[in-house]
Amino acid sequence: MCGIVGYVGKRPVVELLLKGLKRLEYRGYDSAGVAFFQNGKIEIKKSEGKLDNVAKQFKENFEPYTNSYCGIGHTRWATHGKPTTQNAHPHRTGHVVLVHNGIIENYQEIRSEILNHGHQPASETDTELFGYLVLDEMNKGLSLKDAVRKSFLSIKGSCSVVVLSEKEPGTIIGVRHGSPLVVAQDPLGGALLASDAQPIIEYNKEVVFLDHGEIVVGTEKGIDFFDLKSGKSIEKKRVSLDWSSEQLDKQGFPHYMLKEIYEQPNAFVDTLNLMIDRFTAKNPFPLAKQPGVELLYKAKELQIVACGTSYHAILLGKYWLEKWAKIPTQVDLSSEFRYRAPVIKPGTLVIGVTQSGETADTLAVIRDMKQLGVPTLGLTNVRGSTISREADAVFYTASGPEVGVAATKTFFTQMLAFLLWAGNLGFNHGAKVSYLFQKIVELPHLLKDCLSPDGEIISEVKNAAKTLFPMKGFFFIGRGLSFPIALEGALKLKEISYVHAEGYAGGELKHGPIAMIDDQMVVVVLAPQDCWHDKTISNLEEVKARGAKILGIGTRGDKMLSSLCHHFVGLPPGVEEDLMPFLLVTVVQLFSYELAVLKGTDIDQPRNLAKSVTVE
Ligand code: M6R
Repeated sequence: MCGIVGYVGKRPVVELLLKGLKRLEYRGYDSAGVAFFQNGKIEIKKSEGKLDNVAKQFKENFEPYTNSYCGIGHTRWATHGKPTTQNAHPHRTGHVVLVHNGIIENYQEIRSEILNHGHQPASETDTELFGYLVLDEMNKGLSLKDAVRKSFLSIKGSCSVVVLSEKEPGTIIGVRHGSPLVVAQDPLGGALLASDAQPIIEYNKEVVFLDHGEIVVGTEKGIDFFDLKSGKSIEKKRVSLDWSSEQLDKQGFPHYMLKEIYEQPNAFVDTLNLMIDRFTAKNPFPLAKQPGVELLYKAKELQIVACGTSYHAILLGKYWLEKWAKIPTQVDLSSEFRYRAPVIKPGTLVIGVTQSGETADTLAVIRDMKQLGVPTLGLTNVRGSTISREADAVFYTASGPEVGVAATKTFFTQMLAFLLWAGNLGFNHGAKVSYLFQKIVELPHLLKDCLSPDGEIISEVKNAAKTLFPMKGFFFIGRGLSFPIALEGALKLKEISYVHAEGYAGGELKHGPIAMIDDQMVVVVLAPQDCWHDKTISNLEEVKARGAKILGIGTRGDKMLSSLCHHFVGLPPGVEEDLMPFLLVTVVQLFSYELAVLKGTDIDQPRNLAKSVTVE
C-alpha cells in the first residue's frame, strides 16, 4: 500500500527521501513523488510508474539540493483515480503540500464543499481535497498544525496524512487515523516519519508508533505529539527495534525473495529462541512465560483469522492444535469472518495472525471482538505494529524484515509458532511430545543442507521449472498437513509469475477440477511419506491418466512416487510428519521463484500487489 517518508533536520532531504522510498517500494505502488523546500518554496517532482522515474528527474545531480533539509515523499497505490503522474503524490493546494495513505470515505461530500469554495482540483484524488481543507483553514488564520487538525476532524475514513506549508517552513505535520505512521527523532536533530520503520532504522532504532487519532509535529528541534480530538500534548512510548539496516539489503542475492527463503533456517532459530525458555519452563515444549500463554491456557476454543499466506499458516495451525492440544479450533479468512454473524461461545479466544500487523480486515476482527468483550491474541512479525497494540496480548515471530512482497520467511515462522503452541498445550493434556521438540531443534540444520545451492534439491527444482514453465496451468495438491502447503504453493506461483495456479486438497480433485486436466496442465503433488501418502498417490494416478505432467515432491527413495512423476524432488528421509510442511513449503517457494525468473517478472514487487494491505 502507499508509503510515506518525511524528514526535517540537518541532513540533505532529497537523497534521504529517495532512499527512504526505495525501502518502501516493497509495499507495492504505481506512482511516486517527492516534495522539498528549496529557497523558501516547495518544489515537487513526481511520476507515474517506478521511483526511478522520479530519481531521473534529478539527473543524478543532487548538488543544487544539498541545502534542502525538509520534505516529504510518497509511493502511491491507486485507489481514487488512475495511477497517473497527475494523481501521484505529493499534491499542492496553494502553499500547502501533502501526501496521504488510505481512503477518505466522505470524498463526494468534501468535493462538493471544495468546489463551492471556488477551488478546482487538478487531480482525481481524495488527497488533494484534504489539501484544500487545510488551505482554507490556514487562510482563516490557523497554524499549519491546527488547520490540519481541524480539517482531519471533518473527514471520515481510515488514513494518514503528512503535510507541509510554505507559510511554515521547517515544520512537518503528520496525522494517523488508520494507516500506520512511525516517527523517530533524528540523533543529529530533527524528525523522521514513515509508513513503517524500514526507512527510519538506519538513523534511529528507537521509534514511536502513532496510535489512531494522534498528531506529530516534527521540526529541527525534534518531535512533539498531540491528541487529534482535544489538541492536547501527549507523551508517547518509544519502542526499540531489533532490526538492522543490513538486513534490508539483498546481500548478494538477485532478489529479496530468494534471500528471504535462504534466511528461513535463521528466522526459525531466532523465533524459537524468542518464544521458548529452555531453562526454567518445565514443559518439553518450553514456551517462555508471557501474557499470551495465559490466554492460550484459559481458552476452551480457538477462533483464528488471517488473510493470504497467513491464512494458510492458520490452516496448518488448526491441524496441529487439534491433533496435539485437542482444543477445538476454527479458522477463517478475516474478510469473511468480520462480515458474518459468528457464534462465539464463552471461553473462546480469538487470534489474529498477520505478519505485518497492519492488515485491515484482521485488525477489524480484533477490534470487533474487543468490543464484544472476547479475549484477543495477535501473532505478528512487527514489534509495535497495530495488532501488537490492539490485541489483549501478542506473540512475535522473529523473521526480521521481509521485503519481498511474497511472504516466505514470515510464513515459515508463523508455522513454527503454531507448532510450539500446539506442543506446549498438548503436553499439558498428556500428549507425548518431547521427541517432537528435539526434532524441531534439529530442523534448521536439515533445512540448511536442503538449501545447498549445488545440492540435488535445488538442481531438481531448477530443472522442473525449466521444463514446465511454458505449460498452461498448475494445480498443487496435498492432503492433511500438505494441503495448506498446496494452497501456499499455488498462491506463490500466481503472485510472482502470473501463471494460473490452484491449490486443492487431493480428495477434492474429482469433484470438479479434474475436468481441467489435459496434457498442458501440471499437477504438483505433495506426497511425503506420511499417513496421507497412499491416498495422495491415488489422486496422482487419476490426473496422470488424463495427461497431466507431474512434479512430485516427496521423500527421497520413494520409488513408487518417483516412478510416477515426470519430475521428482526428494526430501530427506526420516523427517517427522509434523515437520514436513517446513521442507515442502521451501520447495514450492523455490519452484515458484525459479519459474518467475524464467518468466522475467518483477519478483520482489509483483504487479498489482502490496506488502501490507491496510485498506479492506
Ligand atoms: O501482513 P499479513 O500477514 O496480514 O498479510 C496477509 C496477506 O496480505 C499476505 O499474506 C499476502 O497474501 C502476501 N502477498 C502473500 O505472499
